[in-house]
Amino acid sequence: MNRFSTFPIANHVLKNRLVVAPMASQTSTLDGKVTEKTVRHYANLAQSQAALVMVEYSFVAFSGRSEPNQLGVHDDDCINGIKDIAKVIHQTGAKAGLQLTHCGGKAQLDVCPELMGPSGITVPAYDRILPTPRIMSLNDISSFKKQFVDAARRVELAGFDFVELHCAHGYGLNQFLSPLTNQRDDQYGGSQRNRARLIVEIIEQIKQHTQLSIMVRVPGQDLYPEGLTQAQIVESCHYFIDAGVVVLDVSSGIGGWNRPKERRTEGFLVEEAAYLKQAHLQACIIGVGGIETAEYIDMAIANQWLDLAAVGRAILRGPQEFAHNVMGVKNDALIS
Ligand SMILES: Cc1cc2nc3c(=O)[nH]c(=O)nc-3n(C[C@H](O)[C@H](O)[C@H](O)COP(=O)(O)O)c2cc1C
Repeated sequence: MNRFSTFPIANHVLKNRLVVAPMASQTSTLDGKVTEKTVRHYANLAQSQAALVMVEYSFVAFSGRSEPNQLGVHDDDCINGIKDIAKVIHQTGAKAGLQLTHCGGKAQLDVCPELMGPSGITVPAYDRILPTPRIMSLNDISSFKKQFVDAARRVELAGFDFVELHCAHGYGLNQFLSPLTNQRDDQYGGSQRNRARLIVEIIEQIKQHTQLSIMVRVPGQDLYPEGLTQAQIVESCHYFIDAGVVVLDVSSGIGGWNRPKERRTEGFLVEEAAYLKQAHLQACIIGVGGIETAEYIDMAIANQWLDLAAVGRAILRGPQEFAHNVMGVKNDALIS
C-alpha cells in the first residue's frame, strides 16, 4: 500500500491517500458568505489530486466566529455558496468535506462580542491573552448543539460527502473535551465521558438527521500542561465512534496547530495519529503536520502510522506543483 492506494470509508471510496487539510482562506464576506475568490481557491486546491478536500473551519452561529471574513454555515442563505465549493471539488473526482466550528471562548471581542465556555475559564494560549468567557448554561449548550446539527443539514443540502466537527486547536468543542477549560460538575463535566458528552450528542443528532459521513478533528493531546492526555483522547474517540464517527483527523489541542518547538521533522504531529492507530480504533485515521514528500507519505502508510495523510501548507503554496512532484501528475494533464 502507498499514497496511490484507494481507501473505502462508509459508502465512499477515496481515490488515494491524500487529504487537503482544512485551512481558513479568509475569502468570505464579512457575514460569512462564499465569494468567487473562495470558489476559485477551492478549485485550485483540488488540483493537488487529493482524494478528499476539506473546507476550512466554518462557523455554525454568528456568535461563534473566530475571525473576520471567516466562512459561515449559520443560515440557509449560506447553502448556495458552499454548494459551488462542493461542485468544484467534485469536478476533480475528489470527495468534499466541510469543517464546522464554534469559537466558544477562543476569539477576540471585536469579532465575537460575547465569549462563552463550559466553565467560564480563560482559554490558555501561547501567543496571546484571551478575554474571559462567561459560563454556558444548559440552555446555551442546547442551542450550541442545535447550531451544529442545523449547520450539518446545510452541508448535506450543499452536496458535501463529509462533515467534520472541529474539536481541536482550543476552539469551543475542544474546550468541552479538555479538563483545563471544562470543570463543570453536571452531566457535561467531571469525567472524560461527561466532557465528551456534548460532542457525542452532536454526532448522534447529525447521524440521525443526515446521511453525511462524520469526521472529528481531535487533538492527539492538548500539548498544554495539565491538558488532555493521549489516553483521554483514546477514551473519547471510543465514544465518538460508538456515536457514528468514521474518520478521526488527528491534530493538536489547546496549544493550537503550530509546530511544537521540539518537533522538527516532517510529520511533526503524526506520532499523535500513530498512537491512535495503535489503539486499533474502528475508524480511519488522518495524520498531519509538515508533510511534504511522497517518500514520507508512503513510509507513514507502510508503518501504519496513519491511513490518510493531510497536507496543508505544502499544497497551499502550489497545488499543481504538489500534484506534479508528489502525486506524479504530468504537467500537460494539469489545468492551467
Ligand atoms: C492558513 C492556515 C489556515 C488554517 N486553518 C485551519 C482551519 O480552518 N481548521 C483547522 O482545523 N486547521 C487549520 N489549519 C491547520 C491545518 O489544517 C494543518 O493542521 C496545519 O497547517 C499543519 O499542516 P501543514 O504543516 O501540512 O500545513 C490552518 C493552517 C494554515 C496554514
